[in-house]
Amino acid sequence: MKNKLKKIKALVLTTPKNVRELMKTQFAKPEGKAGEFFTLAMNVFNFKLYNAVYNFVPKDEGIKILDVGYGNGDMLKRLDEKLDAQFYGIDISQDMKVLATKNNARAVAEEKMFLRVGDVEQMPYDDGFFDCVYTINTVYFWKNAGRAMDETVRVLKDGGRFICAFYSKAYFERSEKYQYEGETYYTTGELKELAAAHGLEKVKVKVVDEKKFMYCLIGEKRGNGIVEDSVDE
Ligand SMILES: C[S@@+](CC[C@H](N)C(=O)[O-])C[C@H]1O[C@@H](n2cnc3c(N)ncnc32)[C@H](O)[C@@H]1O
Repeated sequence: MKNKLKKIKALVLTTPKNVRELMKTQFAKPEGKAGEFFTLAMNVFNFKLYNAVYNFVPKDEGIKILDVGYGNGDMLKRLDEKLDAQFYGIDISQDMKVLATKNNARAVAEEKMFLRVGDVEQMPYDDGFFDCVYTINTVYFWKNAGRAMDETVRVLKDGGRFICAFYSKAYFERSEKYQYEGETYYTTGELKELAAAHGLEKVKVKVVDEKKFMYCLIGEKRGNGIVEDSVDE
């Protein structure tokens, strides 16, 4: 498995420009067959981020959880298999809505999961609707990160939890080939500052991998002590 991952990474770094252009669009807004392929690859590469998010998602019965930028819906599926909660998702890609709905057909049919197309910067949910909002590998694409964070906090209940899984700026800065115009990369400090400036409290960052490229930021809308006790950098 490790060797295969290494080979894929090497291929990614030596891919021609047109393929890299395809990757840029497919990470930011996956569409069609290519989108299906790339989101599947993300499921393989990012399993450590998924595990970290799982650990920090509250496990209380009947709570409402939102996935911002759900892609092919793999994380929602993992959570749905383990938790008795109500799941919601918002993603800008119509094709991802179709794919994630197919991948979570039972939960959608049972009205345990509600998927929509939309932008994190303008979400169609009432104030204080969610117990938890999480997002995996999407923060780089937020055009107005302040507005996105405001929206996230708005839809969270008081005491609700925000979880943001991401690769640090250091990961992207290893090579220009990892960087794409129009995307914003964050150090752990920068993302913490952004979260704190937009209404999140007790913001902590947990390192996820040995190389210290993957992180999980956790914060809450109003202090209840849980995050501070369980997370350290
Ligand atoms: C790199 S993919 C990650 C998908 C999924 N979270 C995962 O980890 O497998 C980024 C996802 O965020 C979505 N996205 C990008 N910008 C968004 C925005 N402004 N609002 C909502 N979703 C967005 C994309 O359509 C895409 O599905």
